[in-house]
Amino acid sequence: MKHILEELEKRRAEARLGGGEKRIASQHAKGKLTARERIDLLLDEGSFEEFDMFVEHRVAEFGMDKQRIPGDGVVTGWGRINGRVVFVFSKDFTVFGGSLSSAHAEKILKVQRQAMKVGAPVIGLFDAGGARIQEGVAALGGYADIFLENTLASGVIPQISVIMGPCAGGDVYSPAITDFIFMVKDTSYMYVTGPDVVKTVTHEDVSHEDLGGYRVHALKSGVADGAFENDLEALTQVRRLVDFLPLNNREKPPVREAYDEPGRAEMSLDTLVPANPNKPYDMKELILKVVDEADFFEISPDFAKNIVVGFARMDGQPVGIVANQPQTLAGVLDIDSSRKGARFVRFCDAFEIPIVTFVDVPGFMPGTKQEQGGLIRHGAKLLFAYAEATVPKITLITRKAYGGAYDVMSSKHIRGDINYAWPTAEIAVMGSKGAVEIIFRSEIGDPEAIAAREAEYKARFANPFVAASRGYIDDVIMPHSTRKRIVNALKNLKGKQLTNPWKKHDNIPL
Ligand code: HXC
Repeated sequence: MKHILEELEKRRAEARLGGGEKRIASQHAKGKLTARERIDLLLDEGSFEEFDMFVEHRVAEFGMDKQRIPGDGVVTGWGRINGRVVFVFSKDFTVFGGSLSSAHAEKILKVQRQAMKVGAPVIGLFDAGGARIQEGVAALGGYADIFLENTLASGVIPQISVIMGPCAGGDVYSPAITDFIFMVKDTSYMYVTGPDVVKTVTHEDVSHEDLGGYRVHALKSGVADGAFENDLEALTQVRRLVDFLPLNNREKPPVREAYDEPGRAEMSLDTLVPANPNKPYDMKELILKVVDEADFFEISPDFAKNIVVGFARMDGQPVGIVANQPQTLAGVLDIDSSRKGARFVRFCDAFEIPIVTFVDVPGFMPGTKQEQGGLIRHGAKLLFAYAEATVPKITLITRKAYGGAYDVMSSKHIRGDINYAWPTAEIAVMGSKGAVEIIFRSEIGDPEAIAAREAEYKARFANPFVAASRGYIDDVIMPHSTRKRIVNALKNLKGKQLTNPWKKHDNIPL
């Protein structure tokens, strides 16, 4: 009996060694942790249980019959984050570069399918060289099977991808279908085709980093939702994110005890908005002062900074925050900010997370670049996402709410449940200068007349009371009471029931 137990231990130890000491050392030398070290940091201590540790590939060609490594390049299993169950797979770069064989794909599929049955998130840690070249089409099939599971799971369980090394070819599209992608600075990169293929096809010389590093995806393309300094920080932050999310779309987001007074008045908010309407201020200051314990998990902080999105809690209840940022491009809505906002709003709606929207928006970004880039369709994404969302929606206009952007930003007209404004709010078709120059074009040569017209327009529209008189704004509130009012609204909206008309699925302007 004893030797059987020893045999198991021996086999386990062998599997845990992955591609061997040398390759583990090389992984560490690159500043990366191994697949198992990462899982240990991600999950509660001692909670990880591995599946399929002894799975091997089934290929004999190219000498592969002599290279069988138990586990076959991916570590899979389940464990807990702060006591709540999650499923994980972690690509092992030390085994065939983490490349995907059909056996490797089957391990990931098992985890995905189990997670769907149980109703628990899947977290994928990526560090791999794409399809197992020796396997050919079987690897391609494996990818497609994974993509299908990702797609079916979308909106049912949260799916999170962390890119911690190469993520090339077939490996990119599974993360792309998931809810969030995070990268590790300087050690990770993502691209569909690598620098060699790029050189052949377009004759461009480009490095891995310039083609698909975090600067590309977390700052420019918006493919990644954030980038962290190293493996440890990335995994710690994913733990923090999971704490805001429900395990699946059948349960409510996790309410925690709050250590912050729900009615806390924040007097400094009374002077947050500058007297000059063209002067910026930091919308994040409002967010941090209003949410529980100033704890805000920002999504895509370095992409489309003119809109701020992320998770926080209000009296313990998770909320999704969407806010125009006057500090960047005056908080204007453009293609990127519309895409970023829309994706976030849809995630919150899919997982029953109430949405709190802070509005200070001068409108949509004018210009040929934006129009040629499809601002109409991209802007419509945000509009559509807000309009279809049935979760509790609370909106606060702090200053500008001009034009179509007023409608889009969770207005009453698209089913905002509670719409507040600060006394500093200006709700109008456009800013007073632009408005006067259009409707009184003939008086442009007369500065005095124009100034008088502008003053008249401002007095009429540069306040929240016209909108309030029509019921578009439920109340004009004191800035210092913002937290109390939002906490109260969230509490009163708990029983909200709203369903959209039956349909197979909608046709959001993609
Ligand atoms: C089999 C692979 C592999 C792969 C890497 N390895 N990629 N084995 N299939 N796709 C192995 C290497 O042979 C090596 O084995 C070990 O992993 C480490 O690789 P290195 O090249 O030494 O590492 P590094 O210098 O860090 O470069 C990493 C890399 C490079 C940039 C990812 O390995 C690379 O370019 N790999 C190929 C990427 C690729 O083109 N994949 C196919 C994409 S097409 P040893 O034994 O020496 O340790 C695709 C189509 C699917 O995925 C589409 C589905 C939709």
